[in-house]
Amino acid sequence: MAVSTTTRHLLGLREISRARLTGLLESAESFLPAARGESGVDDVLSGRLVGNLFLENSTRTRGSFTVAAKRLGADTVSLVGSSSSTSKGETLVDTARNIAAMGVDALVMRCSASGGAHLVSQHVDVPVINAGDGKHEHPTQGLLDALALTTHRGEGPTLEGATIAIVGDIGNSRVARSGALAFTKLGADVIFVGPPSMAPSSLEGLLDDAVDIKGSVSVTRDLDSALPMIDAAVMLRVQFERGSSITGDYARQYGLDETRAASMPDHAVVMHPGPVNRGLEIAPEVCDGPRSLIMSQVTCGVAVRMAVLMEQLAN
Ligand code: CP
Repeated sequence: MAVSTTTRHLLGLREISRARLTGLLESAESFLPAARGESGVDDVLSGRLVGNLFLENSTRTRGSFTVAAKRLGADTVSLVGSSSSTSKGETLVDTARNIAAMGVDALVMRCSASGGAHLVSQHVDVPVINAGDGKHEHPTQGLLDALALTTHRGEGPTLEGATIAIVGDIGNSRVARSGALAFTKLGADVIFVGPPSMAPSSLEGLLDDAVDIKGSVSVTRDLDSALPMIDAAVMLRVQFERGSSITGDYARQYGLDETRAASMPDHAVVMHPGPVNRGLEIAPEVCDGPRSLIMSQVTCGVAVRMAVLMEQLAN
């Protein structure tokens, strides 16, 4: 897939430079007080219109793009799958072209087709921001996960020396791909943990052809051996809607309960992109416990999406 290397569009993290990545994180960190509602920002995007095209369900991503746009003074127009004419057979490209023709200044889009955002970017003359395309990438999720970790560590936009486990249904996960790309560009080592059906050994080639990688990726089946070595565990949702299936002992083998979490170093944190299957990939006590950065991730999502909208629309 040929991909634009300019800052127009945000289609994935594989192709973006470390400088662009750290610049977005620095910008996002500056927006955190506004994302928390603690301070206002000027209406720098007043008069701009952001189109949200979500052909798959979303709570966090669609909501936070909307909040981010409004905090910056932009207007939004939203189309969701069941109410759009894709349900009548209109193609993704035709739907996107029609929204672009209404005069939006940027198109935020989620779709089930891997590569869908890149395809649309070739057919519209406005910036396209990928809000999740099938099993491919979810770049603003990778950015927000990185921001949650870097702000927690307090060492600036770097993850040098960190080891991060990404656990569970990795093969089907755009979150895992974008997260691993962001983390390794910032210097972290990533361990993918899961059964062969969810974490195939081929994941060790994930960083091939990605630019500006500093860290490494590896694959293991053994969560209990990995936990004492890590600084963060990113627990993934089992994606039943993409055909994932589990055996009865999945939670016992790969779920993060309190006993397992206690085997992590004292400083280590727990993350989850949401939505959470409580009691399956993560126990409620861990989800809501002192190691959890899950709500911080959501707030970071608003800040990251403010930074991305500024990058795409402010000039
Ligand atoms: N993490 C994430 O993408 O959540 P939503 O599906 O609710 O947007």
